[in-house]
Amino acid sequence: MKDASLRTTYLKDYRPPPFTIETTDLQFDLYEDHATVVSRLLFKCDGGSSVTDLRLHGQLLTLEKVFINGQLLSPDQYITDDESLTIPALENLLGASFEEFQFECHTRIEPQNNTALEGLYKSKKMFCTQCEAEGFRRITYYLDRPDVMSKFTTTVSAEKAKYPVLLSNGNKQASGEVEGAPDRHWVTWEDPFKKPSYLFALVAGDLASLDDTFVTSSGREIELRIFVEEKDIDKCDHAMLSLKKSMRWDEEVYGREYDLDIFMIVAVDDFNMGAMENKGLNVFNTSCVLASPKTTTDFSFQRVEAVVAHEYFHNWSGNRVTCRDWFQLSLKEGFTVYRDSEFSADMGSHTVKRVEDVSFLQTVQFAEDGGPMAHSVRPDSYMEISNFYTVTIYEKGAEVVRMIALLLGPEKFRAGSDLYFERHDGQAVTTEDFVKAMEDASGIDLGQFRNWYSQAGTPVVSIRSEFDADSKRYTLHVRQSCPDTPGQSDKKPLAIPLRLGLLGSDGKDLPLKLLGDDDSIGETDRVFSLIEEEQRLVFEGLESEPIPSLLRGFSAPVRLQYDYSRADLLFLMVNDSDGFNRWNASQLLTIGLIDELQSDLAAGRDLALPQSLIDAYAGVLDSTLSDASVDKAMVAQLLSLPTVGFLIERAEVADVEGIHLVREFLLNGLAVMFYSSFLDVYMDNISDAEYAADAESIARRSLKNLALSYLMRSGKDEAVKAAQKQFSQASNMTDQLSALRCLVNSGAPGAVELKRDALDSFYKQWSHEPLVVDQWFVTQAVCQLPGSLAQVKQLLEHADFDIRNPNKVRSLIGAFCGQNHIGFHDVSGDGYEFLADQVLILDKLNPQIASRLLTPLTRWRKFGAKRQGLMQAQLRRIKAQGELSKDLYEIVEKSTI
Ligand code: BES
Ligand code: ZN
Repeated sequence: MKDASLRTTYLKDYRPPPFTIETTDLQFDLYEDHATVVSRLLFKCDGGSSVTDLRLHGQLLTLEKVFINGQLLSPDQYITDDESLTIPALENLLGASFEEFQFECHTRIEPQNNTALEGLYKSKKMFCTQCEAEGFRRITYYLDRPDVMSKFTTTVSAEKAKYPVLLSNGNKQASGEVEGAPDRHWVTWEDPFKKPSYLFALVAGDLASLDDTFVTSSGREIELRIFVEEKDIDKCDHAMLSLKKSMRWDEEVYGREYDLDIFMIVAVDDFNMGAMENKGLNVFNTSCVLASPKTTTDFSFQRVEAVVAHEYFHNWSGNRVTCRDWFQLSLKEGFTVYRDSEFSADMGSHTVKRVEDVSFLQTVQFAEDGGPMAHSVRPDSYMEISNFYTVTIYEKGAEVVRMIALLLGPEKFRAGSDLYFERHDGQAVTTEDFVKAMEDASGIDLGQFRNWYSQAGTPVVSIRSEFDADSKRYTLHVRQSCPDTPGQSDKKPLAIPLRLGLLGSDGKDLPLKLLGDDDSIGETDRVFSLIEEEQRLVFEGLESEPIPSLLRGFSAPVRLQYDYSRADLLFLMVNDSDGFNRWNASQLLTIGLIDELQSDLAAGRDLALPQSLIDAYAGVLDSTLSDASVDKAMVAQLLSLPTVGFLIERAEVADVEGIHLVREFLLNGLAVMFYSSFLDVYMDNISDAEYAADAESIARRSLKNLALSYLMRSGKDEAVKAAQKQFSQASNMTDQLSALRCLVNSGAPGAVELKRDALDSFYKQWSHEPLVVDQWFVTQAVCQLPGSLAQVKQLLEHADFDIRNPNKVRSLIGAFCGQNHIGFHDVSGDGYEFLADQVLILDKLNPQIASRLLTPLTRWRKFGAKRQGLMQAQLRRIKAQGELSKDLYEIVEKSTI
């Protein structure tokens, strides 16, 4: 790799583009061994330009011809290199002063050899595109940056028989047969909305479609079409329903209507991400569209709904109002994740969705924020933008928007979003413009709040409480700090919304009256904005010492430190009026117990099942068995121990075996102690009703399958039989796969054969369904028993494994390295060596996937000296290979010392 392309891009170097492109006219001719692209662009320069060089982005293109104002340029009139085309001294061609000119270029590309899956490529038999962030420059020369917005017209021509369906953005304008080539046809699409090149899309293939319509709130009828391979046409109903729900929700909650006459989704097998919001033509990974009860788990049903919503919501938060530059990525992604999470919460349960999102944030984003790639929600620099589609940009970005919504309240937040969309419609803007609109519409000062965008690292909020019975005052001493992160030290205090309540001894919320705050109207749940490094909140009029319920609903993405007693936690678990904090109390209780058991283990003491955990489980199980109205999804959450990944993240130095051992000890102990309750829960939640993917049915299955996993741990024959029965008779994939997981992880007598038989019969049953085979790979890759690495290596040779297909790579290699902690972190270092080997192979084919896959190795700081050494050795080995992609180079460079 040449040094020039290892350049870092800085936010501070941003300059507006020297030219705009009014119209973009594209003509694609697709063939089996190449494609030609003719691009005609109308350039404008404001008020006669002083800039005289025209420099366009372009990669891996064969340039055939260039014209300026219809005049063919000779090769000495332009310069090309690995990443650009430059036409120097335009004034020589156009005269001293010019306001606009026509540019035309003819390029040739090879989609069939494009394994990076960026730009125009082939997925199985179809052509498709992925342009975000910088893929358009692999299609033709262009100003491939999001602040250049243009009106696109696209004509696609291809062989009729192989590619009957030809799609691009916008509305279909014309079609016909190709003159002189009777086996070929063409279609022209026109997108009336200006857009940046990253939202361009093209699809050509032999596709079936599920068609429907949606009538918008203003009465316009929109055509909805989901395109898939014929064999999958029976798996589109759920995505279509999700789309219609999303369209309605965005009208009702944000007042946003759809704007074109048609909205299309196309499903492709080979896709680097989940899905992409191209204007009017979303392209989806099949895993995020297709769903049917027999082949798709509840988890995936929910994922399809969320991804369809997310990409649809981008039509406003991303497309109509887009990003000025890629440092502003969270402007569209953070906001849209916030929007899709609220949508999902509205479709199901707010508390459950919040618990899921916060667990993910704490496990994955906190880890990123504490690692070598830590960056702020609006980063200052990057080498490869593809590396910045991170959990920080997405999930922390969504938390930042959530905090704004909390600080403003629903009405003012809606006013802010209305103003943002109205003020910036058709523009490419910044996170600052977003915050400004929120401020202007609400009159609320977000000055200090802006630090959330520029400062990396997870803030720590430590709270100490003090009660003075004489004055009846209760004081919370609050202190905030934020750890140093690469390139950033001495952080400024943030504006942190702390939502809290105080509980009396009867378990009821007490009125919150702040000292000196005479306007207080006796609210029992309030948001306080922390702005100082140290601050006191003094509450008056309290007869006895309350129990504080802090950071309700996880009101800010911080690490909260407060010294709760075990009795406090048990009390909050039962009494807190905030459902999220009831769950959080149970988590804190368990974490404390796990810490203690780890100390016991380290000191060579015998482990014993803690009484408070027994009490907590007994309470939850009793209430579930006696009260049919409890939320089963919440119960399933309350009966699940924190994951190994979560426990690793929160440890100072993670003792992987210790964590695993203690967790297994607790699960096995609970399984034995509560065998009969789990059996009752299991039996109570078996249902012969037809499969439905509604929140209640999903909750029931999740609780039932959790109960089954506990039953299996008993090793009893009865449990094994139940799992086998469920496995072979399941009417849906959730139940079948849960049973398979139980059998695969079983340590019961004769388990080896059970496991083999179940895996073989599952594969036989589903070998014709690629997405189910992916689950079969995942199940083996995350198996917690010894020998999983050997199994994974063997599966690399399986006929259905394909290193060119990102879903397969994620299911086998990604799942093992990212989710099977006990396997991956084996102290031999074999897991680390395996990952480095695979990453090096992948980097030659698909750099984006290679660099993402490497993430687990970059987390070396969390582990003890031995593992740190082994992990770094592998990072250094990769680095020493030379010839790395920019994607991989950046990650390796930043995570080695
Ligand atoms: N715009 C992204 C897709 C994307 C990401 C394209 C990175 C190019 C590079 C899309 O809107 C997105 O965020 N998709 C997510 C799913 C979503 C539900 C968070 C994805 O693909 O994982
Ligand atoms: Zn997105």
